[in-house]
Amino acid sequence: MGTRLQNKVAIITGAARGIGRGIALRFAAEGAKVGVFDLDEMTCLEVVNEIVVNGGEALALGGDVTKPQDVEDAITSLKLRFGTVNIALNNAAIMPSGKLHETSLDDFEACLAVNLRGTFLITRAVVPGMIQAGAGCIIHMSSVTGIRGLPGLAAYSATKGALISLTRAMSTDYAPLGIRVNAIAPGTIDSPMLHSFVDMQTDKEKIRRQFDQMHPIGRVGTIAEVANVAVFLASDEASFVTGSVYEVDGGLSSKGEQPQD
Ligand SMILES: NC(=O)c1ccc[n+]([C@@H]2O[C@H](COP(=O)([O-])OP(=O)(O)OC[C@H]3O[C@@H](n4cnc5c(N)ncnc54)[C@H](O)[C@@H]3O)[C@@H](O)[C@H]2O)c1
Repeated sequence: MGTRLQNKVAIITGAARGIGRGIALRFAAEGAKVGVFDLDEMTCLEVVNEIVVNGGEALALGGDVTKPQDVEDAITSLKLRFGTVNIALNNAAIMPSGKLHETSLDDFEACLAVNLRGTFLITRAVVPGMIQAGAGCIIHMSSVTGIRGLPGLAAYSATKGALISLTRAMSTDYAPLGIRVNAIAPGTIDSPMLHSFVDMQTDKEKIRRQFDQMHPIGRVGTIAEVANVAVFLASDEASFVTGSVYEVDGGLSSKGEQPQD
């Protein structure tokens, strides 16, 4: 077990699977007490059990980030169990695909609700405790789609771009109060989300190769590579880092257009 997040209490949303789960396990391995927040309490419990078996501490928090009462209840339970929340990682998201005019109003609103309203509700619930403590750390999980245009992801990209603006605005508001606010913008990550997308395609090998080749580094990223950056940002090693967007994308957001032959 590491000690980089010892004595910290963290809430991670969307932590039952994928990147959120990976970060929850990693935070706990670095000594944080972790609130594992996701829609289904049973899947949260599986992550909690994995943490506890490995000697860490965690609490399963079943709830919907779009529902104010669920969020308030989760933060209250976490505070009662472990004390003031020091770290909030807004990771839960949904990703409707399609061009904007093809996106249904329901899908568009659901995307705004989970990706932005959820972030607002979690932030609103944790900030007062952080202000009282004079310290805290908030991390928004953005995406490379919030930085550059990628086809077929308009609604999702809008929310991921908004999270970057929110990071900058919040960092200026909260820096004087000791609260750091940063964002992580991953490229394509080898995750269940990617696997389900690839599984739906006819030529799985080809689509997988295209994802790898899209990134200048020549491959997609791993959940561990995102978790490494999250641990750094959440730790005191990042004490002078706020308002920053960390691109964990193998160079994708920096890539210019390839010259045509
Ligand atoms: N996987 C990638 O390649 C990739 C790339 C860039 C950014 N991201 C971002 O990383 C984050 C995690 O992505 P992932 O691939 O692990 O996604 P995922 O779909 O595997 O996991 C998302 C989790 O959020 C939960 N969730 C969804 N709606 C919720 C709600 N209303 N309340 C509570 N929990 C809810 C889901 O149950 C799920 O466990 C997201 O913010 C995503 O936009 C992912």
